[in-house]
Amino acid sequence: MQQKVMLQTQPRIAHLSSLSEAQRGAAPPCIRILPQRCHRAAFVPLAEAQPRSTKASAATSSSASSLDWHSNGTQVPLNDLPEPDGDWSLPFIGETPEFKANHWDWARKRVAKYGPVFRSNIFGSDVIVVTDFVGLQKVFGGAHKLTQWMTAPSLELLCEGSIEAGKEKASHQKQRRQQGAAFTPDAMDAYLPRVVATCEAYLQHWASQDSVNLVPAMGELSFDFAEGLVVGLGIDGKEKRILAAKWQEFTKNAFTFTLDLPGTPFNRARKARDYIMAAIKERVAEKKLEFERGSVKKDTLLAFYASAKADEGDPLDEHELAMNVLLLMLAGSDTSRDAHKVLLGVLPELPPAIMEELRAEQRRIVEKHGKGFGRAAMAEMRYAEALSREVLRIWGPADILFRLVKEDFELHGKRIRKGATILASMLYAKACDPRLSAGDHTESAIPLHMDIHQLHASVKPERWLDPSNKLDMAALATFGMGPHSCLGAPLYLQEAKVLLALIARGYDVSNATGAPNDWGVSPNAAGGSPAADVFLKFVPHKYV
Ligand code: HEM
Repeated sequence: MQQKVMLQTQPRIAHLSSLSEAQRGAAPPCIRILPQRCHRAAFVPLAEAQPRSTKASAATSSSASSLDWHSNGTQVPLNDLPEPDGDWSLPFIGETPEFKANHWDWARKRVAKYGPVFRSNIFGSDVIVVTDFVGLQKVFGGAHKLTQWMTAPSLELLCEGSIEAGKEKASHQKQRRQQGAAFTPDAMDAYLPRVVATCEAYLQHWASQDSVNLVPAMGELSFDFAEGLVVGLGIDGKEKRILAAKWQEFTKNAFTFTLDLPGTPFNRARKARDYIMAAIKERVAEKKLEFERGSVKKDTLLAFYASAKADEGDPLDEHELAMNVLLLMLAGSDTSRDAHKVLLGVLPELPPAIMEELRAEQRRIVEKHGKGFGRAAMAEMRYAEALSREVLRIWGPADILFRLVKEDFELHGKRIRKGATILASMLYAKACDPRLSAGDHTESAIPLHMDIHQLHASVKPERWLDPSNKLDMAALATFGMGPHSCLGAPLYLQEAKVLLALIARGYDVSNATGAPNDWGVSPNAAGGSPAADVFLKFVPHKYV
């Protein structure tokens, strides 16, 4: 069950992560991929964002922050610097239980004792914990030079080498360039009709029910997005239910010990992967035929990614394409599920003025652009995007990321040694972000500006619309930073904005139980978030 612990640590969804022994870690899925050019549009401060031009590239910059975070570097030679202080606590178990129970409090106490970089032992590994934006900039900005991307060995095995590309600069840059082609503004336009149709269908379905169990409902929705937008499987009914169950089996067991014996989690993940790969390969083969015939329909991430490969003269190998598509699904499914879960789950508890402003924005947009969803209308949904970002800031899915140190470097006057594993606390960096914190992060287990249980005080979408706050996507931390930062952020935000727009135009959302939601102590705490089932009620109401 150690493994379960790890899994829950990060967003179950996958992204990235780490560790060198299966159970250490966890992480999620946004996994692999390449950078170099990351989605520039995704990192433009919302306050300055303009409608994107058709030509703008989705993958153009690895800059992740508009702020200039300076390390308080020292002139002392590296060899003379002390290493970070900290506790190892119990053998093997280390500080995992305390970390899992309450990430904020665990970090807060240690930062007070040892400073913003300290050592610990989590998930059976010795780690150097980095807890502020100065450190994150160094760790993630130093990708490929100071640090190397890492993920769980079990995932590496399940991906049969496809994940390796993320580790070295040249291969990662190429991979990111090609994957980035699936996230350009033109690609976003191509996905939009499917995103709108999917959201409309789900909202109608939810409105037909007495109440909707939030977490499973968001699991279904995000799987629909993943298989529909990424691969375009076009399945339904029983076929879809079976594939969704296999998907759950795969994601639940992909981060585990690498013991491949009948009945082990790894074995279950491998079998589920084989089933899913067979389905994906059918669609990949069809897409390949379209290329051979010279008439490719660009409607899915698969199609854009394969086109980028073809344009660069790379062979379209069916297995390799299918594996990369699997990774894209993995990167975008559980992360999006957890983000949508919080976004919709907090709606009934938001200050009423927020819902009113959302509806007012939709009225203005419909008056100007009509009811359809096009690029111009989407670009004007600035308040909806600000709310989506604000919710991710407060309770975003990815709370830790791991990196391997490639060469010695200095951080906060400490020597970080080559070979160490970094645990980057994205959660605590947000807690102490000087742009947002009033300093209460040093005193309370959850700082007020991130307290999901006090939304009237914490949630302020307008902070994203005021340029003087200098907030950009990096301030969310939940999409990562630097050359590996999330390529899929624009896709998630598109889904979120469409959901909010449709709800603002035509639904009332309330909490079916009438009791306040219990979100637990942190987004990925051991008790889960929410800590108890949340049931929502959707009632059609024509506002716009
Ligand atoms: C709220 C939803 C999401 C969150 C919180 C999220 C989070 C992240 C994070 C933290 C990383 C960086 C990992 C690292 O540095 O080790 C990442 C990378 C990535 N994400 Fe996402 N992600 C989300 C949605 C998506 C979606 C929908 C897709 C695509 C379908 C996607 C595709 C990717 C890819 C391809 C990378 C790899 C970038 C690279 O290594 O160069 N993500 N994501």
